[in-house]
Amino acid sequence: MLENKNENGDAAGCGCEKSVCMENPPNSFILVIFGASGDLTYRKLIPSIFSLFQKDMLPSDFHIVGCARTPMDDLGFRKKVAESIRSKYKSIPAKMIEVFNQNVHYVSGAYDSPEMFSALSARLDSLDTQYPTPPGRIYYLALPASVYTDVIEQLSNAGLVSEKRDGASPYRRVIIEKPFGYDLESARSIERQMKNHLAEKQIYRIDHYLGKDTVQNILMLRFANMIFEPLWNNKYIDFVQITVAESIGIEHRAGYFDKAGLLRDIFQNHMLEMLSLVAMEPPASFDADSVRDEKAKLLRSIKRYKPEDVSANFIRGQYTQGIQNGEKICSYVEEDGVPQTSTTETFVAAKTFINNWRWNGVPFYLRAGKRLKRRVSEIAVTFKKIPHSIFNPLQPEDLHQNMLVLNVQPEEGFALNIQAKKPGAKLCMGDLPMDFFYRDIFKDEPPEAYERLLLDCMAGDSTLFIRNDTIDLSWSLLTPILEAWGENGSGAGKLCSYPAGSWGPKEAFSLIEADNRKWREP
Ligand code: BG6
Repeated sequence: MLENKNENGDAAGCGCEKSVCMENPPNSFILVIFGASGDLTYRKLIPSIFSLFQKDMLPSDFHIVGCARTPMDDLGFRKKVAESIRSKYKSIPAKMIEVFNQNVHYVSGAYDSPEMFSALSARLDSLDTQYPTPPGRIYYLALPASVYTDVIEQLSNAGLVSEKRDGASPYRRVIIEKPFGYDLESARSIERQMKNHLAEKQIYRIDHYLGKDTVQNILMLRFANMIFEPLWNNKYIDFVQITVAESIGIEHRAGYFDKAGLLRDIFQNHMLEMLSLVAMEPPASFDADSVRDEKAKLLRSIKRYKPEDVSANFIRGQYTQGIQNGEKICSYVEEDGVPQTSTTETFVAAKTFINNWRWNGVPFYLRAGKRLKRRVSEIAVTFKKIPHSIFNPLQPEDLHQNMLVLNVQPEEGFALNIQAKKPGAKLCMGDLPMDFFYRDIFKDEPPEAYERLLLDCMAGDSTLFIRNDTIDLSWSLLTPILEAWGENGSGAGKLCSYPAGSWGPKEAFSLIEADNRKWREP
């Protein structure tokens, strides 16, 4: 992973003398964004690159070339770039945006048109002449997966992705965004087509959750401390819950979301990534292959369900009208662009197991959904009951089990709940919660996930990117669930409903309560 050094040689951003990530600042680069007129570009990519620029974490000579179908010239795109920056950073001086924008360009055309790619090639060649030696290029595909292969083929035909084998020529890297396919078959087909033109080391598959500081912190908590790892197994851990709850609905993404559904949108990537980090074996070192080897091993150990067991272990739901923060919210099928008859799930709760020595018998309860009561992503690890109580008449079941909660967002930090004596003459037990918020301790807000990931891609570090085998493994786990549910949701288990602003359907509660356990209310 990359961390810039400032003038004093400290790692920029943390000021530490010793850091695990003392590498050089990125070299000159050109970033080409396909899908430059889309939501991801304006909401996340431009603000993240600008933030790096503002923090002096980019080389002075970089260029950004936006590409999209929308006809626009450089000035038109720069205007949009400026709006995107201002909507995120309200008080940025106009001059600074102007300086940034001098490095911003635009090429328009269709993604399957050779003309657009030869115009792009000419533009890139002319930018190259401004550098003493040609810079590396990153092609960011902020596009639906259905056009990835067109773009990659055109890039390849135009000679824009070839790297000389001797490593003498500058790098050519391609970043793609999830969803990586629609199911196992389509994911394999995309993969095959990409591999016709690119080597694995050129492909950077983004799951932005991996760029979040708190997600990376799962590994720090487990492997930079001695106190938790000895307890991190089925001898001491009773069960684990992972929640990715969103209060927002589908925003303006009905076209994508109604086809994908929540299992593809969140489980296939963010959920399985967090599960892997929390449950995998210690990698030999924090490098791309070691970390990703362990993740792949973990995914291979997750229980596979037979079609007849799916409905008992995977609950799918869709939100109906409800109240959220006092505001009336429409049902999913009333959202703009969603067909009235849609059976797409906006919520999934699941119970699964990891079939290996460490985790045998420990249930992992996972839930994610749109329009839930609060936005929160967290991992809650509940430890077993004490084996025997010396505090007569209190029995082990009278004492709350210890719980360690890793708060991924929005209150980044962690919390440990222990049992303690309440003050007073009597022997009364109570919860002693120990809550730590990163912002109180490190006095800094975590950076936007895309900042870290873009820097890592520039540095050629793929530790926080997804390797092709884990895509295959995740789809081979989830495709049978999708097949059991059926194309129009008419298969195993019913589509349950839940009011917007709640914590999901009652069936999701029954899933965990059947085991005498409860979902945490974060
Ligand atoms: C995206 C999903 O990957 O993650 C969205 O496609 C979801 O549907 C988003 O809203 C959540 O990300 P975050 O960072 O807001 O938790």
